[in-house]
Amino acid sequence: MKDIKERIFGIIRSISRPEAEAVISYLSKSNYFTRGCWSHHKERGGLARHSLEVYEHMLSHAAGFPSDSIAVIALFHDLGKTVHRSEYGPGHGHRSVAILDELGFPLTREERTAIGHHHGFFKGDCPIRSFLKSADCTSARNWSEARHRGHGHHSMHSRP
Ligand SMILES: [Fe+2]
Repeated sequence: MKDIKERIFGIIRSISRPEAEAVISYLSKSNYFTRGCWSHHKERGGLARHSLEVYEHMLSHAAGFPSDSIAVIALFHDLGKTVHRSEYGPGHGHRSVAILDELGFPLTREERTAIGHHHGFFKGDCPIRSFLKSADCTSARNWSEARHRGHGHHSMHSRP
């Protein structure tokens, strides 16, 4: 996990945006590096691992999108999972945007739409949001498939 933390901090610092250090300090204090996601990457540290996977997937299929936007939306799209809806309202994507706003981290309009609406249905046209959504789903699907294989293997060997 230390490795993942250093890599994520390195990426955030490399895009040199104002308030990057405020976000880094938030990530350190929150459960970003310890908690899992809900329906995939459920293990301890799953949220950070998933965020890095989404980043790497997006970067390797970058299709002309700015690399700083890719870093921001991939690493921060699930920030909303680090807080509760009772404080920040429903929709973890919207909560992610609210946290970044609170920290004073500047987002472009596209980044705001991509993060805020990465989950569920969205009517508007925002290519980088679709890109994030597909990378997010790929990471979740890879996790489920790997776990499925792991379980199959395990049950085969654990049977008497
Ligand atoms: Fe995600």
